[in-house]
Amino acid sequence: MSIPNNEQQPRSAPLLPPDPPALCDYEGSAYRVEFWTDARAFEDLAERRALHTLLPPRGARLIEIGAGFGRLADLYAGYSQVILVEPALSMLRQAQERLRHDPRFVFVRANVYELPLQDQTLDTVVMVRVLHHLVDVPHALAELRRIVRPGGAFILEFANKRNLKSILRFALRRQTWSPFAPEPYEFAPLNFDFHPTWVLQQLQRAGFAVQRQVAVSHFRAEFFKRRWSAARLAALDSWLQRYASGLRLAPSIFVQAQVAAAAPSSPPDGLFRCPACHHNALVVAADALTCPACGQAWPQRDGIYDFIK
Ligand SMILES: C[S@@+](CC[C@H](N)C(=O)[O-])C[C@H]1O[C@@H](n2cnc3c(N)ncnc32)[C@H](O)[C@@H]1O
Repeated sequence: MSIPNNEQQPRSAPLLPPDPPALCDYEGSAYRVEFWTDARAFEDLAERRALHTLLPPRGARLIEIGAGFGRLADLYAGYSQVILVEPALSMLRQAQERLRHDPRFVFVRANVYELPLQDQTLDTVVMVRVLHHLVDVPHALAELRRIVRPGGAFILEFANKRNLKSILRFALRRQTWSPFAPEPYEFAPLNFDFHPTWVLQQLQRAGFAVQRQVAVSHFRAEFFKRRWSAARLAALDSWLQRYASGLRLAPSIFVQAQVAAAAPSSPPDGLFRCPACHHNALVVAADALTCPACGQAWPQRDGIYDFIK
């Protein structure tokens, strides 16, 4: 029997990273003006209260994933550096216009599935109103878990399919899908509602320990908004956030999770890593970060690090 030498063996194709999951594209979207007008003043206030409750007030480095136009950025005053990650360049530009005067902010165009950040570099990760666009939640959570330092926090918001309105609609047969079924429900392409227990399981599988949950936006209905001011509804919602969160009947849930603390170690010097080959030490030039391992240059234009090819 002849043993083939290397010359005779078929050459295998180079290993390419798999394509990232589909992205819900906000490029050029009028999200800021169409969504966050007065009509959403109640939701904005209610979410701010929940975030204020759950967010560790101080730290060295915070990252917000899918930060949009930086709606929540003023809540990060206690952090020395704030990294806003957003795949839609037009949204990132809006964030930059609002916040460029503050040198603590770093604007990064990237995708949650391929974060250009080194392992364990963040004290706090925030992701609000983004999970409902993610088709591959375990992939995203694994990537987020990778970048949080031991003892660091992850504040996650998700859309709750088991909310009071959908339970009532299901009971009255005005809705065919069950709010009690664990799997995510895709109500429109790349728009998902989640069962709270399913999300908690995914967090645990990714290595996060869930500390606290807050149910938010109990009065997200025209019936209430027409009758009472946003401030009054938010004050009532705040009370329910405190005393009724265990029921998890609101359309939005905020979770505070933590990565178990390890023995103290010095934080890594760098921040970014190459999303193509995962090499850590990128070489800094005037207009790009270049990866010495694979040669890819990641441009830096007008204050935005661009990690999307
Ligand atoms: C509903 S907006 C929320 C924006 C902001 N978090 C807020 O609460 O105002 C959803 C954001 O998620 C971003 N997004 C969607 N898919 C994403 C992904 N795969 N990685 C990172 N961000 C994503 C969108 O570009 C958009 O800015």
